[in-house]
Amino acid sequence: MASISNNGNTTLRGLKGILFHTNCESTSFNHLLKTVKHLDAHIPRLLKQIEWVNMGGGYMFDESRSLDKFTEAVTFLKDKYNVEVFIEPGKGIVGKAGHLVSSVVDIFDSDGKNIAVLDTTVNHMPEVFEYQFKPDIMQESENGKYKYILAGSTCLAGDLFGEYSFDEPLELGSRIVFENMGAYTLVKANMFNGINLPSIYVYTKDGKLELVKKFGYEDFLSRCGVKNNVPA
Ligand SMILES: Cc1ncc(COP(=O)(O)O)c(C=O)c1O
Repeated sequence: MASISNNGNTTLRGLKGILFHTNCESTSFNHLLKTVKHLDAHIPRLLKQIEWVNMGGGYMFDESRSLDKFTEAVTFLKDKYNVEVFIEPGKGIVGKAGHLVSSVVDIFDSDGKNIAVLDTTVNHMPEVFEYQFKPDIMQESENGKYKYILAGSTCLAGDLFGEYSFDEPLELGSRIVFENMGAYTLVKANMFNGINLPSIYVYTKDGKLELVKKFGYEDFLSRCGVKNNVPA
């Protein structure tokens, strides 16, 4: 447990490391370097005392033109303070690494609009709802003449993905594949309304699809602390 001395210096005794997460979808490392220099100017005594600095996530490495400022920030901390430096980016590493595969389970007309209900929900990708963005799907065709509002299958008001155009009419069982779903899906997904979490599959190097994890009612019960139908 860290304690703050009262001798006027902000020495946090017992602290082994610090974490800061100050970037968001950042393609430039200028701000990271500024943050590190700010820490250097304001908490040098603490930096001398600790063993590690975790610089959080929010870095879009593949879209960055140069890693120079990033290297400078890490080198500066390591050389001046002899600390272990690490990062924990999510979206920049796994954001494009996953698809969420769903199927159409119902189609109906509502006030002249075609609604296609999917066997998934915005609760599987809550950022769609939180940030009100329209996720990319593989089957969309810019000039497609068949338009559908894709909806999730819970009763959550706002369980909607948006309106999409297709070259062919959708049918029951049509596949809708949400792209770039590697980050902030499973970590944020919930089972609201009793809708199961999506199963996890991996593509193996030799092109096979292998089931890694399937969730069931037992998982739902255990999250609620219920074992053998008895609340803990
Ligand atoms: C402490 C911390 N580290 C890392 C991350 C990952 O961020 P990103 O996925 O944008 O790289 C987050 C995201 O909220 C975070 O809060």
